[in-house]
Amino acid sequence: METQILVQESILKQETNVRITPPLAPAIVNITAIERLELTRIGKSLRKQYGTYENPEYIETLHLNAYKILPERIARQLMRMGSDFSAAQYGAVVFKGLVDVDQDALGPTPPSWRELNPEKVIEYGFISSLMHGAVPSKPVEYFAQRKGGGLMHAIIPDMNMAYSQTGSGSRTELFVHTEDAFLFNAADFLSFLYLRNEEEVPSMLYSIRSHGRPGDMLKPLFEPIYKCPKDANYSHEEAVGEGINTSILYGNPEAPFIRFDAAEQIYNQEAGQSPEALENLKTFWNEARGLIYDSFIPEAGDLIFVNNHLCAHGRNAFVAGFRNENGTMVPCERRLMLRMMSKTSLIHIQSVAHPENPYMVMEEHYGKVYPPVTTTSSIQE
Ligand SMILES: [Fe+2]
Repeated sequence: METQILVQESILKQETNVRITPPLAPAIVNITAIERLELTRIGKSLRKQYGTYENPEYIETLHLNAYKILPERIARQLMRMGSDFSAAQYGAVVFKGLVDVDQDALGPTPPSWRELNPEKVIEYGFISSLMHGAVPSKPVEYFAQRKGGGLMHAIIPDMNMAYSQTGSGSRTELFVHTEDAFLFNAADFLSFLYLRNEEEVPSMLYSIRSHGRPGDMLKPLFEPIYKCPKDANYSHEEAVGEGINTSILYGNPEAPFIRFDAAEQIYNQEAGQSPEALENLKTFWNEARGLIYDSFIPEAGDLIFVNNHLCAHGRNAFVAGFRNENGTMVPCERRLMLRMMSKTSLIHIQSVAHPENPYMVMEEHYGKVYPPVTTTSSIQE
């Protein structure tokens, strides 16, 4: 018996000592033509059956559909994202060529998300939601973003917001961030489905796993001493508001999760960080910047699936509506992407959910909930 225990201990030691090469890039899954055809068929048939992916009957039974009808290879990739938080897990997977995008049927990119005809993207909503359903995770919406605005958001460069640090910006780099780093109940998973990216804007991803096992540099990030103002979708006075401090890293000390927004926590002069916090953040950012992966340029039909606790996202600056043709900038349709967010447990968000809509997160800033009658006119919808 004693020998058996000693052997087990030695195996355990060996396992913990195994050196895992830190992942520096997301896995890329090339979708086959047959799988793509199958997904197109699925999108059409679900639309026929349920009308919209917002249909309560559909969304309640999302997991059943995800496991019954998604191609198994794709479902398995997503299931792994829901349970693998190991040192080898980057936290993002690119599904290359997931859907066929009929550019003519889509028509011109509207001036902003407000003018997009939702009918044109319903089938993409079904497919995106099935991807989350396979994790399994449930699509949710955030009052803090577009006052809800539905389970899927179109992200379109808005010429009036070109220089903002938001999804509607374009002319400045959108610094890497985990989505809604100013909330305790930020999304667990994100999907970005690209319908257009003729400007060939690279997507940026940054994974906390790329640093390897947390060493001395990352340790101070576990201290709850950092502030995170609400993002650039808010007016300044409203954004800084509450004086809550949180940690950047949390969860398992050996394989931590991350909550981080470079623009708001480091570059925002009014974030109100203490000198110590700012110093730690800058030291961290110095190393993290070098680990950003930006060699993937999404094409129409590609979907990036992200664990928002492991991997931050952003994008390079670009000139919306122009593509480079042999060195000459020629006009093109502006970039168009569809984002969906999800939580793995609805139960755990009910303390901040809308009383009549369990899928609507009403958290405003670190645990503070929007009042029932809101006066949030300064939110950029
Ligand atoms: Fe984002």
